[in-house]
Parts: sequence; structure tokens; C-alpha cells
Amino acid sequence: MKKVVYIYAKMLAVAAMVFAAILCLAACAEEQSEPVIEIPMLTPGPTPTFVPEPAETGNDAVLPLQNPVPSEEPITGIQPSGTPDISGEKLIALTFDDGPYGEVTNRILDVVEAYRDQNVHVTFFALGSQVDKFPKTVLRAKELGCEIANHTYDHKNLTKIPTQEMISQVEDAADLVEQITGERPKLVRPPYGAKNDDVYATVKYPLILWNIDTLDWKTKDTDSTVAAALGAGDGDIVLMHDLRHETAAAVEKIVPQLLEQGYKLVTVSEMFEAKGIELTMGKSYRKAK
Ligand code: NI
Repeated sequence: MKKVVYIYAKMLAVAAMVFAAILCLAACAEEQSEPVIEIPMLTPGPTPTFVPEPAETGNDAVLPLQNPVPSEEPITGIQPSGTPDISGEKLIALTFDDGPYGEVTNRILDVVEAYRDQNVHVTFFALGSQVDKFPKTVLRAKELGCEIANHTYDHKNLTKIPTQEMISQVEDAADLVEQITGERPKLVRPPYGAKNDDVYATVKYPLILWNIDTLDWKTKDTDSTVAAALGAGDGDIVLMHDLRHETAAAVEKIVPQLLEQGYKLVTVSEMFEAKGIELTMGKSYRKAK
């Protein structure tokens, strides 16, 4: 009899623990207000095209901010930084994929704004689904002279979906950006860098890849991201992701050091225009040289 009571007590205790765990999980899920929607994946083939792993649940949401996040109040008084003559200059395009992502994107924009007297501009290859969540961040980027380019609506591999879905992945994202900024994105970066003849024939925009991969999403390490980006030279396109604070911290170091080395930090469109390289649909570009 004693043994039976003991077993019942044990079962009750286990049931209580399971119930508590379910309650805790539900609470955690509610707290995760800014989910990362990336799926980690390696693309086979000659082009190393990694995408970020999802952040740990709630991790990014609880990281302390080093810089205050600008509020989502309407932005006034910020004018585009202008476009001085940059032909003949040493140019680098810093690019950020898979955002916007609230705090991290704004922390990167804080750096852009801090150096706006030197016309620092970067390019965001934004996801439509994230643009939908952070429209004022997109507008802030645009008003700081950054380029909002297209990384599809929600990061589908364009080589693995039907033609009509490929079109909607690209155009739905473009519609959202245009609604917010008044300007339609001119460039597409296919998720995973994945492209084939169907993608070239269907996507009516130039495809922009990269030639300097910081692997920021993989190392999650500020110093190695800084080191990789500082390896860039004239005409290079540097790949980062506005998903993690480690990357934003790297940008705080990368920008002043590249400026110190005499580089101008420009958008992808600005760099190709300054180099006299025409961007056309049906082609992909890794660098401007
Ligand atoms: Ni991506």
C-alpha cells in the first residue's frame, strides 16, 4: 500500500513539473517579440552561401543595448546626406541581409548617422516580412541615405519554388518597401545566393552577391567580423547580417577604421554608378571591379 501511495505521489509530482514547464514555455514564447525567421542552411555548390542561424529563443530581445534605440516615433529633420562626387575614390559597400531587425538595425543606423558628415551609407537587403514589422526603421535607413534593396519576402530559395511564387517573393517585398520609402528597390539578393537560369529569366532586377563574407552569423564574434570586413578593398561588397548585436558592435569598429584607411562607404548602387558599371537584370555581381 505504501508503495502504491509513493508511486501515485511520484506521478503527481511529474505531472506538476510538466505543467509548470508548459506554462514557462508559453510565457517565454510571448516574450519573444522579434523572432528571427532565418533557417540555417548551407547551399551546396561553388558559392559559399550561408545564412544565419536563428538566434536562441528570446536571446536578442534581452541583450542590453549599448546605444539607445531610437523610438519608432515619426522622424523629422533628417535629410539625406547628399551625393558628392565619389568617382576616383576607393569605395566599399557594406551590406546587411535578413533584417530589418529592430534594435540591431537601429544600432547600425546609429553608426551611419554618427558618420553622416562623411556620407557613410550602407545597403540593407531587407526581407519583406521584416520590413512589415519595422517600417520606421526602414524609413530611417532611407532618410540617412542608405539603400533598401530586396532579399525577397520571406527568404525562400528561389531555385526551389515555382515561377509565379518567385515573382511574388520579389515583388511583394518590393511593394512593401515602395509603400514605406516611396522608392522601389532596384537590386535583389537571392536568399542563399541561390540562382539558376529560371531565376535570371524571372527576376527583373540585377542580382547582387558579395565577395567578402564576414560569416558574422556563424562566428557570432565581433572581432572576427571586424577582421573579415577590414580585408575588403576598393570595389568590394561585404556581407553581414543585421540580426545580432555582435555584428552591430563590429560595425561600430569597422566604419571608423575603413574611413581612416581612406575608403568611402557607399551603397551598392552608388558604388557601381561611380565605377561606371551598369547593373542589368539577368546578371549577377559580386564586386564592382
Ligand atoms: Ni539571407
